[in-house]
Amino acid sequence: MEKTVQTKEMVRITTPDEMRRFIRKQKEKGKTIGFVPTMGFLHEGHLSLFRKAAETSDCVVASIFVNPTQFNDRDDYLAYPHDLMRDAHLAEEAGVQALFLPEEKTVYPNGNEVTVTIHAKTDVLCGKSRPGHFNGVATVLAKLFNIIRPDSVYFGMKDAQQAAIVSSMIQAFHFPIRLITCPIVREPDGLAMSSRNARLNPAERKEAAVLSRGLQAGLAAIKAGERDFDAIVQSVRSYYTVHLKLGEVEYIDVLNYPELKRRGASLSGRFIIACAVRYSHARLIDNVTGTAESVSEPG
Ligand code: PAF
Repeated sequence: MEKTVQTKEMVRITTPDEMRRFIRKQKEKGKTIGFVPTMGFLHEGHLSLFRKAAETSDCVVASIFVNPTQFNDRDDYLAYPHDLMRDAHLAEEAGVQALFLPEEKTVYPNGNEVTVTIHAKTDVLCGKSRPGHFNGVATVLAKLFNIIRPDSVYFGMKDAQQAAIVSSMIQAFHFPIRLITCPIVREPDGLAMSSRNARLNPAERKEAAVLSRGLQAGLAAIKAGERDFDAIVQSVRSYYTVHLKLGEVEYIDVLNYPELKRRGASLSGRFIIACAVRYSHARLIDNVTGTAESVSEPG
């Protein structure tokens, strides 16, 4: 049954048909559609995407759907935090005009009969440690892009590998969509904002500021002239060896971006320094990107 609830400004939509009708009406009025897909439990990082979308598109659509196919770990999926009332309020305040809240059986009417497989950029970083994760992300995004038909989509650079893969998918499937990436939003101590930060205990939360500082150590090495990929990785690792006591490093890597490969024997051009660290109930990721030839003084 369709349940479209009109709040002050924002409509909540649960079915693809109703969403298509909403989009058609907007397009008839000549409005451009900006789409921000999320899994909810919104934080300032998501709100920055909504605001960017509101600045650069006429009508902002956001989705909240905790996508089961991108979780490798069932417990992680089941423990994913939710707060729909709060999310709806925040989304509306940040300029979202339609919030898409589909159920699992609506998004996956035939289960996993038809899925998307990503064959590049997935053998490193999170793709390596979470096999199948990006296939799940690409599958759900193909469905959402098809239902919403946005002119622009907005992704945060905290998930830089996801942004690179979405860019490839948009090209490969000829989606007529502009990808807009937005900078990582950080807490005052440097921790990248994430829905998973809520699952850190107080001691872990205090320590987690170390992640971004370690990446800054990598940037400092590049700034000082280091161009050997492994030596840059080592400068981050050394920082974590000293400062990380509770978290366990899953990976640290330095690659060219957005291809997510080492382009030559030594670093040149656009790069990413990325890490993943596991705490007791949360796996955190962070990264910095830059251009080797013009890397600025680390902040
Ligand atoms: O980045 C996320 O929150 C998810 O991977 C996304 C893009 C909403 C797909 O489920």
